[in-house]
Amino acid sequence: MTQAQGGAGRLPAHIAIIMDGNGRWAQARGLPRTAGHRAGADAVRAVVRECRRLGIPHLTLYAFSSENWNRPKTEISALFGLLLEFLGAEVPHMEEQGIRLRVLGDLDGLPLAQRGALRHAMARTAACADMTLNLALNYGGRAEIVRAARALAAEGLSPESITEEALAARLDTAGQPDPDLLIRTSGELRLSNFLLYQCAYSELHFTPVLWPDFGPAELAAALEDYAGRSRRFGKTREQADGC
Ligand code: IPE
Ligand code: IPE
Ligand code: MG
Repeated sequence: MTQAQGGAGRLPAHIAIIMDGNGRWAQARGLPRTAGHRAGADAVRAVVRECRRLGIPHLTLYAFSSENWNRPKTEISALFGLLLEFLGAEVPHMEEQGIRLRVLGDLDGLPLAQRGALRHAMARTAACADMTLNLALNYGGRAEIVRAARALAAEGLSPESITEEALAARLDTAGQPDPDLLIRTSGELRLSNFLLYQCAYSELHFTPVLWPDFGPAELAAALEDYAGRSRRFGKTREQADGC
């Protein structure tokens, strides 16, 4: 939606992060993968606080993909256990800090307890207006586009009224700007079905740092990288930099 011209000297309005590398972080320490996820949850807390402190209005964290159901059952239940712990500890703090929680993905496919806790957390933070934290859970970019297309069909829109705006308004991110900056940790160079529609013009920052080691210093490095980018949106460099 929003197309800020030029990254130079600006903070992104929306940062999206593919938090990857928890398993390798644990493996490197001879720990079970779940220990990596626990350390990853600590990194989430730190990064949310830092983004709030910096005044980043929208932060989206990829926490569980629709493909992550392919993992061992024990790992999945550890991840969902950590989600409940995270919500229990963080929601009061989020409310205090003016952080609104939203979920991207198919909430109905989540276990009952987590669904309830997420609904409760969203209701409790609904009026918070300083920052939006989107947790992508049971999220897949293609499935999200299909859900939006189905919504358009169900509403009986005529072909001419199916516009980019109409589709975007039915995505899980409706009403929020597209990510200006997409970060992926752990050195993997792929999108893994994340925000496929919304990242059409995002600046990409890949870092080899594993997610549990990602903190304020790594975020600052990503922001510096972003600030040095020339965002052109199809224009020439001269046109874009002249804006
Ligand atoms: C990311 O870390 C967390 C989730 C996908 C839930 P991984 O668990 O994918 O860590 P690696 O890629 O195995 O190191
Ligand atoms: C992407 O990480 C999903 C999340 C970070 C939640 P994965 O580690 O699951 O991605 P792939 O499968 O290696 O691409
Ligand atoms: Mg991974």
